[in-house]
Amino acid sequence: DGLAAWLRYARVPGASRHLGKLPSAVVTLNATKGYPVHTAGQELVDGIGGLFGKKLTVAKSKPKGTTATVGTVSAYVDKNPSAAKGLPDLVEDGFYLKISKGNVLILGQNERGALYGAFHYLSVIAQGNVSDFTLTSNPDAPVRWVNQWDNMQDGGTHGSVERGYGGDSIFFWDGHIREDLTRAGQYARLLASIGINAVVANNVNANASILTPENMDGLARIADVFRPYGVQLGVSLNFAAPQLLGGLDTFDPLDKAVVNWWQGIADNLYKRIPDMAGYLVKANSEGQPGPMTYNRTLADGANLFARTLQPHGGIILFRAFVYDHRSLNQTLDWKADRANAAVDYFDGLDDKFEDNVVIQIKYGPIDFQVREPVSPLFTHLRRTGATVELQITQEYLGQQAHVVYLAPMWKELLDFDLRVDSKPSTLKSIVSGKRFGQKLTGYAGVVNVGTNTTWLGSHLAMSNLYAYGKLAWDPEQTSTGILKEWTTLTFGHDKLVHDVITKISMESWPAYEDYSGNLGIQTLTDILLGHYGPNPGSQDGNPWGQWTRADDDTIGMDRTVWNGTGFAGQYPPEIAAMYENIETTPDNLLLWFHHVPYTQKLKSGKTVIQHFYDAHYKGSATAQTFVTLWEKLKGRIDKERYEHVLFRLIYQAGHSLVWRDSVNQFYFNKSGIPDELGRVGNH
Ligand code: GCU
Repeated sequence: DGLAAWLRYARVPGASRHLGKLPSAVVTLNATKGYPVHTAGQELVDGIGGLFGKKLTVAKSKPKGTTATVGTVSAYVDKNPSAAKGLPDLVEDGFYLKISKGNVLILGQNERGALYGAFHYLSVIAQGNVSDFTLTSNPDAPVRWVNQWDNMQDGGTHGSVERGYGGDSIFFWDGHIREDLTRAGQYARLLASIGINAVVANNVNANASILTPENMDGLARIADVFRPYGVQLGVSLNFAAPQLLGGLDTFDPLDKAVVNWWQGIADNLYKRIPDMAGYLVKANSEGQPGPMTYNRTLADGANLFARTLQPHGGIILFRAFVYDHRSLNQTLDWKADRANAAVDYFDGLDDKFEDNVVIQIKYGPIDFQVREPVSPLFTHLRRTGATVELQITQEYLGQQAHVVYLAPMWKELLDFDLRVDSKPSTLKSIVSGKRFGQKLTGYAGVVNVGTNTTWLGSHLAMSNLYAYGKLAWDPEQTSTGILKEWTTLTFGHDKLVHDVITKISMESWPAYEDYSGNLGIQTLTDILLGHYGPNPGSQDGNPWGQWTRADDDTIGMDRTVWNGTGFAGQYPPEIAAMYENIETTPDNLLLWFHHVPYTQKLKSGKTVIQHFYDAHYKGSATAQTFVTLWEKLKGRIDKERYEHVLFRLIYQAGHSLVWRDSVNQFYFNKSGIPDELGRVGNH
């Protein structure tokens, strides 16, 4: 069942031997149907039933025999005042687990935490571990959101998903909220099991019509199916809605009528959805309206919404992905650089935002490329909290037709030390709020599941969603550890299945980087047509500012301060100095920061052009091995998933050759420099 993803509760090998170590009944403390503690009780019954074939019942008070007790800390302490002393400190959404001889105690700081604890316990026993343990688990950051880029309508009819590769929207159809929201509830269940606490259901390129009274009613229905899982709803706004929908003649954020209009919207939403998470806003970006349309600052824009949310306790995630693609001209301006935009626009605003504003920053300064340096904006916001925006949907990374396990890439970014004030300043320490002490910080992941029964269009792509939630909860977890868990829960315990999935997954990002764009040149996809497939030629002269500046002799963006766009100077001094200098810039970001001849020598001793040729052969050769590796699993996993994955891996193997030959031939044609091994050229 693809829909169940990692929550299949398939029978554990040797299940019957473990029955004595499991609870015999479930006790829920102060459970109300439709809320997480009640859900937790149900999951424990379903989970232990499926995993071990042991039928449990939910009891109101303590029955005879071993029990699993689940509830909030406060509900527990009410009943057992003397137990309070022995309990650990939990932060919001945190949980405490104590497993002892078949008795299970699951306590959450809030209801959501209790549900997280139940899912954690089920995950542990699903992996075959029924031994006693005690665990206190607190999330690394409070904001752990998912963004869906679902359109309300598409040509007036459907609900498509922008950059979604798993079918139509599970939320919207024909300009309305779907009647049947079963899939939305199932999605919330998956997300709760990995610690995600909110979903923004509509696209950042927002349609103002999401705010009609009828659609607000529909949003309330979405919130209703999320609520049992402790997942809150967030809404994307169109900045011009007062004009587009409200009939005002302005959307100036400082205009009184505009402010009142937005206050009415917030009040109306919270009347329907008292626990709404808040807003997500994309403004003044790629043609979207925003405060700068009226010469107001981005802070004026963000604060407008923040203030209307304050009476209701909501927060606003305001995106830093702000740039004007019409003002970028490559041929005329050597110093033009879209990468500079975010820091330029947010300069001087750090202390101007209301307390419930969080700035949502894409991990890199351009756009979800296969390799980017960490966005320097993270070092400029010290009072205002930030979330890092990661992309689970593989927009530039093969669109789920290629396997690319992203946890290793995210780990590298999160572990990167930005050296603010010459002190340790990893990205993870910034987005946890630990480095600068902000309260509201965390993670936002663009997921874009759809109606496809695999959710993302590919079974293996689901490890990325799983890993996203796990890392947002605890970025110290390892890529392989997360993968192992996910594989057991999704495919079972067979060692060969594990070996194959681990090998393919762990080799997949390096392979994709090798055949799609190396040395920090960006993913050389077609920039105009859907960001899919190779088209290095499209990476120059486009208005989007994603450039390589490749000519017959040289390639790369000069982002130095001394001679280039100055981007390197947006980092703290130690990092700026590293990137400013060719000698200290790591090879894998050389062309991101420097414009060099194709004959430039890398640290590896190879030239840039020879590295291109070799890496493309190497990466695509690795992709060929994925097929033969997977074929070893025939008969070891169910036929449906085996064939579904095989089909995609065969395609990927072929498409990686298309990538290899297109990119290599392109740069051979430009540079005229032959491949030392004679593979590329005029055949
Ligand atoms: C990318 C993506 C768009 C999206 C934008 C954003 O450019 O291709 O579809 O709207 O990012 O993040 O806002």
